[in-house]
Amino acid sequence: MSPLDERIESLRAKFGTRLAILGHHYQSDEVIRHVDFQGDSLELARKIDGLAAEHVVFCGVRFMAESAAALARPGQKIHTPRADATCPMADMAPAARVEDVLTALREDGRLVIPLAYVNSSAEVKAVCGLYGGSVCTSANARVMLEWALQQGDAVLFLPDKNLGHNTANQLNIDPAERLEINIRDEGRRLDHKKAQYARLLLWPGACAIHHMFRKAQIQDLRRARPGVRVVAHPECSQGVVRAADGAGSTSYLIKYCASAPAGAKIAVATEMNLVQRLAARHKAEGKEIFPLKALACSNMAKTTEEGLLELLTNLDAATPLCLSPDVVEHSCVALERMLRICA
Ligand code: 13P
Ligand code: SF4
Repeated sequence: MSPLDERIESLRAKFGTRLAILGHHYQSDEVIRHVDFQGDSLELARKIDGLAAEHVVFCGVRFMAESAAALARPGQKIHTPRADATCPMADMAPAARVEDVLTALREDGRLVIPLAYVNSSAEVKAVCGLYGGSVCTSANARVMLEWALQQGDAVLFLPDKNLGHNTANQLNIDPAERLEINIRDEGRRLDHKKAQYARLLLWPGACAIHHMFRKAQIQDLRRARPGVRVVAHPECSQGVVRAADGAGSTSYLIKYCASAPAGAKIAVATEMNLVQRLAARHKAEGKEIFPLKALACSNMAKTTEEGLLELLTNLDAATPLCLSPDVVEHSCVALERMLRICA
């Protein structure tokens, strides 16, 4: 054990059941070894309800901690080691712009239901709660999009157009019924004529990391290494997901690697901390697991062992994440709809 490791563990022991540490799969091994629970964004959101701890330290990015803060019980404090660890894709959909665009779309007389990927701010989730919509994660996007389509005339899916397209492909929604919308000028640049015919209106956001995987990388790899399998996160483009052998949330990717036979060679198109952990975990079983391209999420990397120690050292005096009562109320409506539908 390193001195840093020891100090964190002794603080965890001191807090005992008053503290719970949650971590997303993209966190580094140095952080992950201190968490009580590791999961994908759906699993982490589900975990909050059953946590008795007074302090919940969330190692991930801000939107994940915000969901925890919205779902926390009264008096429970949600903390993040780095307040500036945000998700750039979530930042591509500011709440005021989402509300403006949704209002502009509804002015055409159609009931447009907002469905936000969980990678969005608590304020955006509150807009979804207020306007009859909900939230989804990459693990339940198909079920939630199907649900949202049944609630109105069309769905505004945001902020990830790739997840929107990939989920629409699973539901056989014709590309002619989808529209990537223009969100500039508070919705004044919307093509209302085209929007009226679309069942699925897609916000033009994407994850800069997952968007860097290319179909050609898979084709080149298959030529160089016959028999290789490729799995991808659905934040990758449609071309990558179609060319892969499977696609799904971080938990899906973990299960895929675990259930592959000994000797399997698997390229994984997602953040590299997770891929490296899977490679180490399954090496002894004779599986070769490697990143399709080595790409790290710099915001996930902002949480370090040093940062975690600093927070734990001052935890009782630390200011927890605080959302306005309105945002808590309405974002909870959206989040709880998802948790109920996908129970
Ligand atoms: P999961 O929902 O699969 O955990 O992914 C979250 C994320 O940020 C992927 O980039
Ligand atoms: Fe956001 Fe992409 Fe990082 Fe996930 S990997 S947290 S979507 S920037």
